[in-house]
Amino acid sequence: MIPPKPPARAERVSLWRYLRLFRQDILSAQPERLYRAWMAEFRTPFFRSYLVNQPDLVRCVLKERPDDFPKSDRISEGLRPLLGESVFVTNGEAWKRQRRIIDPAFEGGRLKDTFPAMRDAAEAAAARLAAHAGEEVEIEEQTSHAAADVIFRTLFSIPIEHRIAREVFHEFRAYQRTQPILNAAAFVPLPRWLPRGHRRRTRASARAIRALITELTAERMRAIEAGTAPDDLATKIMTTRDPVTGETFTTEEMVDQVAIFSLAGHETSASALAWTLYLMAIFPDWQDRVAEEARANLPRDAPADFAAVSRLRVTRDVFREALRLYPPVPMMVREATQAERFRDRDLPRGAQIVLSPWHQHRHTRLWDNPDGFDPARWETENGRSCAREAYMPFSAGPRVCTGAGFAMVEGVLLLARLLRDLKVAPGTRPPPMPVAHLTVRSRKGIWLKVAGR
Ligand code: HEM
Repeated sequence: MIPPKPPARAERVSLWRYLRLFRQDILSAQPERLYRAWMAEFRTPFFRSYLVNQPDLVRCVLKERPDDFPKSDRISEGLRPLLGESVFVTNGEAWKRQRRIIDPAFEGGRLKDTFPAMRDAAEAAAARLAAHAGEEVEIEEQTSHAAADVIFRTLFSIPIEHRIAREVFHEFRAYQRTQPILNAAAFVPLPRWLPRGHRRRTRASARAIRALITELTAERMRAIEAGTAPDDLATKIMTTRDPVTGETFTTEEMVDQVAIFSLAGHETSASALAWTLYLMAIFPDWQDRVAEEARANLPRDAPADFAAVSRLRVTRDVFREALRLYPPVPMMVREATQAERFRDRDLPRGAQIVLSPWHQHRHTRLWDNPDGFDPARWETENGRSCAREAYMPFSAGPRVCTGAGFAMVEGVLLLARLLRDLKVAPGTRPPPMPVAHLTVRSRKGIWLKVAGR
């Protein structure tokens, strides 16, 4: 059985038709040939963009010469009202300084300190889902709730039931509904002079989220000064000095960072977990193996320890395979700061370079059985070489996702914990169809039947 894949569009369409398709969904707006092309050029009256799948070119852009290919403003634009000058949207020196302060909070050793908060969130998520045993539930809603809970517990030591956490979570939902896709301007050739604006409701949501986050951050700053702050990610980040300048973040700068952690940390993990659970529903043999591994390593009578997660090998392979088929961030955009020559083609300065985990992960010339679900592939030679050359759910290079290690522990733990006691099966509605909103979601939700094991 082949898991759901969006239909490709016809090879040739007019620019206007393309724009219309794009507004609906960036995945089905693309032609089939992108799954076998090494590079594809999109010529438009205003500028050119290039989707690059060839592994050595992707490596060049992300790992070898990242400073020559900064993040494109076009993509940041839509997110600025919410994210301000956060690490997700900045470039150059400002970005380097922010990473120097943030990265230590997400290092391996630190993850161990964060683990108990994650475990509590996993327990709470399992209890919430168990309350629906015997019912058909929309699983993205459940995983969003769980991922938001993980973020608030690890960052600010508060559960999602906390007043502010709950309000931020609800506002994020409203925000996601009004923000159609990452902002078409990110990928689509809209000229810069065309007014696009942010919808009023999107801006209002962004303002509401920032006001709530400011409340939390200012309160935390006071607790740090009073010496009463808990030892969580927020305290760690707010007290870390930049090793180069000796500065710490101001409250305002921290608000920008908290906004991106809340958004990037919750939307992406929620999407990944929801698709993984769907895959488990349609591949029950794999689901049983995950459940068995969970029973052996996450005992019911004692809290799970950090080391147990590294023993969840099958669960990890399953989660990696889900991230391959449904990478939550389907595409990334960079801009060439100088003329380049890629595959015997001249790219002008200012060219938009689209790196697409979505297409690279399903590339027919790189992967065996590219559209199939096969967690055992990671043990094969093809799987191992593709893991190095053609797999980038968290991006790569210096701008790699700060939360990659965090997300791999979170996803594996939650998946195992949920399936230890619960079983999921396909619901009665039609299979979900992936669409790219802020992250890869399904057009009409992912409905699963939940039962006790
Ligand atoms: C399965 C979960 C996740 C996936 C698939 C994911 C994926 C990504 C990707 C692909 C990027 C690069 C985007 C680009 O260059 O345009 C990114 C950046 C980022 N992610 Fe994640 N992410 C996940 C979870 C998290 C979590 C849990 C956090 C924080 C708690 C986080 C924080 C960030 C930040 C701060 C950046 C910006 C890094 C920079 O530009 O320097 N992410 N993520």
